[in-house]
Amino acid sequence: MSLLDRAEKALRVHFDQAVGLGAPPRLVEAMRHAVFSGGARIRPQLCLSVAMACGDDQPNLSDAAAVSLELMHCASLVHDDMPAFDDADIRRGRPTVHKVYGEPLALLAGDALIVMAYQVLANACAEHPMRLVGLMQNLCTGVGLPHGIVAGQAWECEPAADLSQYQRAKTGALFVAATCAGALASASDARPWIGLGSNLGEAYQVADDIRDVVMQAAELGKPAGQDQLHERPSVAHQLGLEGALSYFNKLIEQAVDSVPPCSCKDMLKQLVRLEAERLVPRAAIEASGKAAGQATQRQIHAEVTRAST
Ligand code: IPE
Ligand code: IPE
Ligand code: MG
Ligand code: MG
Repeated sequence: MSLLDRAEKALRVHFDQAVGLGAPPRLVEAMRHAVFSGGARIRPQLCLSVAMACGDDQPNLSDAAAVSLELMHCASLVHDDMPAFDDADIRRGRPTVHKVYGEPLALLAGDALIVMAYQVLANACAEHPMRLVGLMQNLCTGVGLPHGIVAGQAWECEPAADLSQYQRAKTGALFVAATCAGALASASDARPWIGLGSNLGEAYQVADDIRDVVMQAAELGKPAGQDQLHERPSVAHQLGLEGALSYFNKLIEQAVDSVPPCSCKDMLKQLVRLEAERLVPRAAIEASGKAAGQATQRQIHAEVTRAST
């Protein structure tokens, strides 16, 4: 079974178990809309691949850890799309949760997914309380204060923010939590896995900034040009497209180099490279390097689109 299939299956099983019977049906529908909508599932795949590299001696626990990360991610997207934040109408190529179910249910669906993430972890860890403590702390670090998703989103409400600190918190922290969760679910030391999560997570946000500039909503499955519209700090705006592309490339190389020695080293390096290629095709980076100094946004857009088709 592929990592993606394993992650999807685990999400369905754990989601259904946690929902139980008798919950308000429209709330559950809104939560399903948020979760089962074709996300890339990169965070759970990362968690599962590290778990396999660490022996994966309790697969159900690895699955639960992977699911808890994706539920947190989906919750963050529901809230991020709401009018109080980015006011986005589409996500993953479909209307956003608040567009379909209204703002009160979108708020509650996000809340319920956050609680469900902890619930899934706690249920799966019933026989492994020692592992629960580490996994729970790890999830809190990825989501809470001082440097998790909530802190990252809150930097948008400050008069000034350090771009790297903002991006590491908003996106990088959950990637670090993903690699570390794979190790912790397998009772392994999480520290060797921090570098992979942090480099890939930062690369992911840099790619998101580049894609926000060079791609269209139909390709992204979400609105384009949002960073400029909302005056968000963006690597593409700070370094220019050339600079952002080479920074992305550098972070991907660092992520590949930071895979620690293990039996799944090649598989993990390939996962990073495939993900990089999916986000920002290499042909576009090379083409933009050759045209340094003269490439316009329109040219790079054409290169990215051509390379990805
Ligand atoms: C989108 O994350 C938000 C960011 C942090 C860049 P993804 O690009 O992983 O979104 P999905 O899960 O595939 O929709
Ligand atoms: C979303 O950040 C990251 C979250 C923590 C929710 P963005 O607002 O930059 O991402 P998109 O472009 O909406 O996916
Ligand atoms: Mg946002
Ligand atoms: Mg957004």
